[in-house]
Amino acid sequence: MANVITYGTFDFFHDGHRRILERAKEFCGEGGKLFVGVTSENYDRERGKLNVVQSLADRMEQVKGSGLADELFVEEYEGQKIEDVQRYNIDIFVIGDDWLGKYEYLKEWCKVVYLPRTKGISSTMIRNDARHILRGGIVGCGRIANRFMVESRFVSGIVFDAVCNPELRLAEEFSQKHSIKDVFADFDTLLDKVDVVYVATPHPFHSEYVRRALKAKKHVLCEKPLTLDYEEAKALYSLAEENGVILQEALKTAFAPCFKRLVNLVKSGIVGKVRQVNAAFTRLTPDKSLREYDPEMGGGALSELASYVLCPIIKLLGAADPSQMVTHSLRDQGDRVETFATGIIKYSASTGVFTVGLGGKTEGSLAVAGSTGYVYVPSPWWKTEYFEIRNDMGQTVRRVYCPFIGDGLRYELAEFVGAIASGQKLAVWGASDSLALLKLLLAARCNV
Ligand code: CTP
Repeated sequence: MANVITYGTFDFFHDGHRRILERAKEFCGEGGKLFVGVTSENYDRERGKLNVVQSLADRMEQVKGSGLADELFVEEYEGQKIEDVQRYNIDIFVIGDDWLGKYEYLKEWCKVVYLPRTKGISSTMIRNDARHILRGGIVGCGRIANRFMVESRFVSGIVFDAVCNPELRLAEEFSQKHSIKDVFADFDTLLDKVDVVYVATPHPFHSEYVRRALKAKKHVLCEKPLTLDYEEAKALYSLAEENGVILQEALKTAFAPCFKRLVNLVKSGIVGKVRQVNAAFTRLTPDKSLREYDPEMGGGALSELASYVLCPIIKLLGAADPSQMVTHSLRDQGDRVETFATGIIKYSASTGVFTVGLGGKTEGSLAVAGSTGYVYVPSPWWKTEYFEIRNDMGQTVRRVYCPFIGDGLRYELAEFVGAIASGQKLAVWGASDSLALLKLLLAARCNV
């Protein structure tokens, strides 16, 4: 007789799941019990598994329905297995051999057995069969496009298997690196083949690609800033609406789970009334030959980095009248590119303060001053994964941690795919947020 424990997500309970539970049950013998842990939605999100379709309740119901589990419980965090093994007096831990070697640390408390996976079946396969998989095309092959391709593999419901670049050689290199099936020099040919376009070109080319994709009724995810022309951005969002497709600005910070939590906590009054949002993002970029310094390519500290610092200001304080903003910029390249800029935006009962820089370094933190305390988010807050809530004495009263996995681009993509699937408007970073930000960003660029 033995107490046996095993874990899984058990999305779309299938034969592979049944087989591992059956084999685990055999280890119990007479009088032993099988304990089965099912991952919570939050835990899956935290460990970067964003492709689970069924709710925790449904997944638990299915495991229960198999009749194989004697005890069912929820797995909520990394490290919980050690506690469970002790709490349930476990003799044997069983898991599929896709995890081979991962749970050796449990040998201190119980026997660890890796069983061969059942071949030819997985939740991923079922999800892909059950849902229409969106076909994605990518235009632009630069640094962010490379990072995006890696991250896109963690989001289900979409496959990026087409790439377009006017310089075909670059598209071919990119396709080889990321095993992309189709390569095009012509954007219209790509549009014929895909449902979704990710625009990752340099700033000045965004509008043209986005417009053509929207006219062809394709959903568009476009790198930030969407354009450097307010009326053009407005027209693009209207075009998306007229054509019944989604246009999302790829502002990764807004979609980070921990940043969303911060916004919700502040809005629920955790530091009282918000008096000031102060955000800085500086990245020393000494090589002046880079695109970041090219005025023709929309370079400058503001177009490169202000989307990040204005994001918490817009999310927490809302849209502002640009005439209520003063900006001071240090400039280069014949006065056409900002190397360092600071701005102050006046709201009726608060202020937004931001600093961005390519040619000057500062502590990149985010602070939200409130009437009863403040929130402090250390650098790199634009990839938020940790923040502190401090009281009027500056003492930390709460620490909040929520991982930001990889480059974090998976979060914006998951939200985008979810919005397409549900047909719902984007709540996290929609047209009104994006336009409010652009209005300030453009005004800051004109303001010396
Ligand atoms: N499992 C198995 N055989 C399969 C699929 C899963 O033995 N064909 C096992 C896993 O090794 C694990 C348990 O079932 O021990 C739960 O796996 P889970 O991750 O929930 O299922 P997957 O089908 O692997 O899910 P996904 O495709 O999302 O990775």
